[in-house]
Amino acid sequence: WILFIFIFFSALITTGCGKPFLSTLQPAGEVAEKQYNLFLLSFSVMAIVILVVVTIYVIVLVRFRRKKGDENKIPKQVAGSHKLEVIWTAIPILIIIGLSIPTVYLTFYFGDVKGMERVDEQGDPKHLVVNVRANLYWWEFEYPDLGIITSQDLVVPTGERIYFNLKASDVKHSFWVPSIGGKMDTNTDNLNTFYLEFDPEKSDEAGNIFYGKCAELCGPSHAYMDFKVKAISRDEFDRWVLAMQKNEEPELASELAVKGKQLFEENDQFSCISCHATTARDDRPEATRLGPNLADFGNRTRVAGYLEFTKENIKNWIQHPEEYKPGNLMYEKADFTDEELEALAEYLMSLKVQE
Ligand code: CUA
Repeated sequence: WILFIFIFFSALITTGCGKPFLSTLQPAGEVAEKQYNLFLLSFSVMAIVILVVVTIYVIVLVRFRRKKGDENKIPKQVAGSHKLEVIWTAIPILIIIGLSIPTVYLTFYFGDVKGMERVDEQGDPKHLVVNVRANLYWWEFEYPDLGIITSQDLVVPTGERIYFNLKASDVKHSFWVPSIGGKMDTNTDNLNTFYLEFDPEKSDEAGNIFYGKCAELCGPSHAYMDFKVKAISRDEFDRWVLAMQKNEEPELASELAVKGKQLFEENDQFSCISCHATTARDDRPEATRLGPNLADFGNRTRVAGYLEFTKENIKNWIQHPEEYKPGNLMYEKADFTDEELEALAEYLMSLKVQE
């Protein structure tokens, strides 16, 4: 009972408050909904089992307790009952078979990733495919059929299946958008594939932002390895893709931003640009893409994956990456002046792709 009450209240706490769309109990897509229904079914069956067992237990406790005058009586000794044994073996087996039918069915249903190979009459891919590459502690999203790369904020169209190829470049991570579907590991030695769908009807105040997390303990900053998903309509998505495909940096409006760009590209000891591309067509080999791609950075929802998107946070992050994400691989140059940080932040915030 204590366990039951504990589960009940934890469920209450995690559903009530918390961030919008960071809960498996608020499904916002086809995959998540089917998984949620399966979870509800299993949970209900288990709850009934617990209820029946506890009820019988209480009845037996009350009915057969020692009463006054029973002190010297020895109850009837029973050594096994074939009938009962058959019943309590058969019932659980039947329950498990019953539960396994929808589970196995859904496993194969979700395992159907042939869609990512399907092409239409013109030979164009029928579905959007995204290559996800997990790194300590950031995410890269490559759209192989569109020729663009982004990171940290995944942008997807709603209302259609999106196929994901998942892998990691250093250690094992796990890709998880709780309200959209179950997690899937990103490994270094094989490609995992699955699909997700984002429901166009579901949105929060921030405008269809879904929260994603790394769900495999990968190092000291595992808990900060967040990403966001911007789910937008197909039309909006196509416009965004066209803007990204132009592969141009926006015109820099202020002198400060121009100075930031210079700092970004040239420096005496290191340069930001050697790890971070600022346009979306990054054709360097994967192993040399050492930092997140920063095209469209100005439209990101977070700094470093989890900090609020403010100039102050960008400056702090550039200055003290180790403080915000211990163990991350960003070069820490501690002697930026405030003016330099201001210029770099101004430049980064102006990186917005234009239609
Ligand atoms: Cu990556 Cu945990």
